[in-house]
Amino acid sequence: MTDPSVPPPTGKPTSYSRVTLSRIMTAVDVNLYGTVHGGVLMKFVDDVAGAAAARHFGGTAVTAAIDEIVFAEPVRVGDLVHAHAQVNWTGHTSMEVGVRVVAERWDSAEEAPIEVATAYLVFVGVDVSGNPRPVRPVLPETGEDKRRFREAEIRREHRLARRRAIQDHRGSHDSPVDDSPVAS
Ligand SMILES: CC(C)(COP(=O)(O)OP(=O)(O)OC[C@H]1O[C@@H](n2cnc3c(N)ncnc32)[C@H](O)[C@@H]1OP(=O)(O)O)[C@@H](O)C(=O)NCCC(=O)NCCS
Repeated sequence: MTDPSVPPPTGKPTSYSRVTLSRIMTAVDVNLYGTVHGGVLMKFVDDVAGAAAARHFGGTAVTAAIDEIVFAEPVRVGDLVHAHAQVNWTGHTSMEVGVRVVAERWDSAEEAPIEVATAYLVFVGVDVSGNPRPVRPVLPETGEDKRRFREAEIRREHRLARRRAIQDHRGSHDSPVDDSPVAS
């Protein structure tokens, strides 16, 4: 529960939260097929998004949801991979962080980096007890920032609508108690 009498602090421009992490992929990062494991990239994405969220929030921010992650191209051992993140949108206590991952191929370093993954994550700013706290607003600066802000709103509207539709569906069916170990 957040205290509604406490006003959120003044905003920060989108560029304030921008963070890039880079690393070279090694043999311990690969899957059975010899390309970089999706889980390795997911951790990398979560790390850079967490850094952007914490910078914008000015404190601890936890991952509430990974809304979407798309792997566009395989990543190989030796590739120099850069993950770029920024806060696209802020709500009351939550933030959407957009991440773009690009790779420089080790054997064609003169070519432009290629996009290998994109992701959108929701972070929530929390206090020392883990309770949500108001986040300062993000202030989109450029046309691109404004487009990303609006698209983040669309994703949030869809997420909330989907949750409501599933709750309504469950409310309209008398299902027996499901004790299966799969996702609810
Ligand atoms: C994230 C967490 C703090 C939210 O707590 P909560 O009591 O459910 O919070 P609320 O219902 O008040 O929601 C707080 C905000 O989070 C958003 N939120 C909560 N669950 C969400 C979800 N599954 N997807 C997207 N947004 C979500 C809400 O929309 C709300 O946003 P707003 O304030 O901008 O409108 C809590 O669920 C938690 O601690 N989860 C574990 C986090 C964690 O361990 N992450 C991995 C390691 S960092």
